[in-house]
Amino acid sequence: MTNDLWFEEKLPTWYSHEGGCNGHEATELQAVAHFAKSVTGWLGDSQGLALYQMARSPAAGGVLEIGSFCGKSTLFIALGCKHSNSTFYAVDPHKRMSEGGKEQWGLNYYPFTGNSLRELRDTLDSCNLATYVTLMIATSEEARRQFSTQPLKLLFIDGSHDYADVRLDYELWHEMIVPGGHLVFHDSNTEGVNKTIHANLDRARYAHEGAVGDGRWAMTIWQRVR
Ligand SMILES: C[S@@+](CC[C@H](N)C(=O)[O-])C[C@H]1O[C@@H](n2cnc3c(N)ncnc32)[C@H](O)[C@@H]1O
Repeated sequence: MTNDLWFEEKLPTWYSHEGGCNGHEATELQAVAHFAKSVTGWLGDSQGLALYQMARSPAAGGVLEIGSFCGKSTLFIALGCKHSNSTFYAVDPHKRMSEGGKEQWGLNYYPFTGNSLRELRDTLDSCNLATYVTLMIATSEEARRQFSTQPLKLLFIDGSHDYADVRLDYELWHEMIVPGGHLVFHDSNTEGVNKTIHANLDRARYAHEGAVGDGRWAMTIWQRVR
């Protein structure tokens, strides 16, 4: 991968290290951020805060996450949706590698129990956020068949990182993002995600707002401009 295809951290102008909220909401966000440290997963603290801020935005439209695993990212998005009164769908087949699942390489990751669905439910229950999330136990392709077209203000892609899968996630869902809404890719410097961004992302419709986090796990944020 040549350097001009590598994303460096560049925080979006709207990003706040405190989450952009105060009072009771700030206390709740701190509690969720603290709890998230104990959840198995690969999301950085600042990435969680950025997801929270996008989910919390007053823009019209729902939120959809592809790839929840044990719920580290799901927690931050659910809290943002709670405070913006937004609908939130979290899509993941929760299949183990032995059952044909992908990206469950946390199997040896302490303290992962091997059951991401149960951990996801426990995570959301522990923070009283389960009622703000509709879980779709399906691949993104299966979920798309069950889902009616509806406006999204945030689409977070963090499922399988194989190029064909990331590209499919983008192509199946991105048309639902409203102008001004956000498309977010986790792990943007891994091969399949990076290739999707450079080869398939429609740059006339998506403006690069920034990247949160460094290295292979950098999370890039794109705003739909038309
Ligand atoms: C990298 S993990 C997600 C991490 C999570 N967002 C976090 O914050 O910890 C990837 C997840 O994507 C799921 N996955 C794999 N293929 C998928 C697909 N086609 N559609 C939806 N989810 C998928 C896996 O089951 C796995 O739980």
